[in-house]
Amino acid sequence: MSKPAKKKASGPAKPKVGAPAPEKAGFINFTIDGQPVQAREGWTVLDTARQYGFHIPTLCFHEALEPAGGCRLCIVEARQGDWSKVVISCLYPPWEGVEILTSSERVQNGRRWILEMLLADCPASPQIRKLAREFGVVSTRFTAETQEEECLRCGLCIRVCEEIVGVSAISFGSRGVDKHVATPYMVPNDACVSCGSCVAVCPTLAAQTRLDKFRGDIALRTGHGYAHY
Ligand code: SF4
Ligand code: FES
Repeated sequence: MSKPAKKKASGPAKPKVGAPAPEKAGFINFTIDGQPVQAREGWTVLDTARQYGFHIPTLCFHEALEPAGGCRLCIVEARQGDWSKVVISCLYPPWEGVEILTSSERVQNGRRWILEMLLADCPASPQIRKLAREFGVVSTRFTAETQEEECLRCGLCIRVCEEIVGVSAISFGSRGVDKHVATPYMVPNDACVSCGSCVAVCPTLAAQTRLDKFRGDIALRTGHGYAHY
């Protein structure tokens, strides 16, 4: 999917006089919270919202990477006539005439529910607790497997390692509640070039915590870097 080439505060440039009408020139006209907006072909709802300055919270999204739709925090409501659906804005393509609501009651309820799940997924993360508080969520009905976890398994670190650095030194190991970021076979991986990109994109301090844990431990630092998850 192509990304918006350059961000502008006021949305896409207007077509020149004499150019085809916007819908014929590859623009999609729709509304976000009642404001008319235009998306270019290939933009998602989130791409368009950001272009126009609408705030939609995200955790697993990074502009430099392909969206994966893992955290669900970026949900919005799409409406047309009597039809309505809650969708993941970082993946969802807009279409002509759709109405997008970024903070309807359905969206707010869904987002609070997701934040409760995140609080249980990574209870040791101050970033997640702070984010949850901003949406009025201070406790969770879900049970945490451990109180030590900071990683929300968003996969950003894995994707940056694969898509940008190009080495795929880390990936997800196991499944379900045991799913975790790991090097293959849980042993030091010489593919790691110690670039620190995984730490830079991590929305919690999980990747940094792992780096700090292994830094200085000579037994674990044989070979390259700190990707000894
Ligand atoms: S270490 Fe950070 S970036 Fe990687 S999956 Fe966990 S929370 Fe996401
Ligand atoms: S930011 Fe869209 S699902 Fe995580």
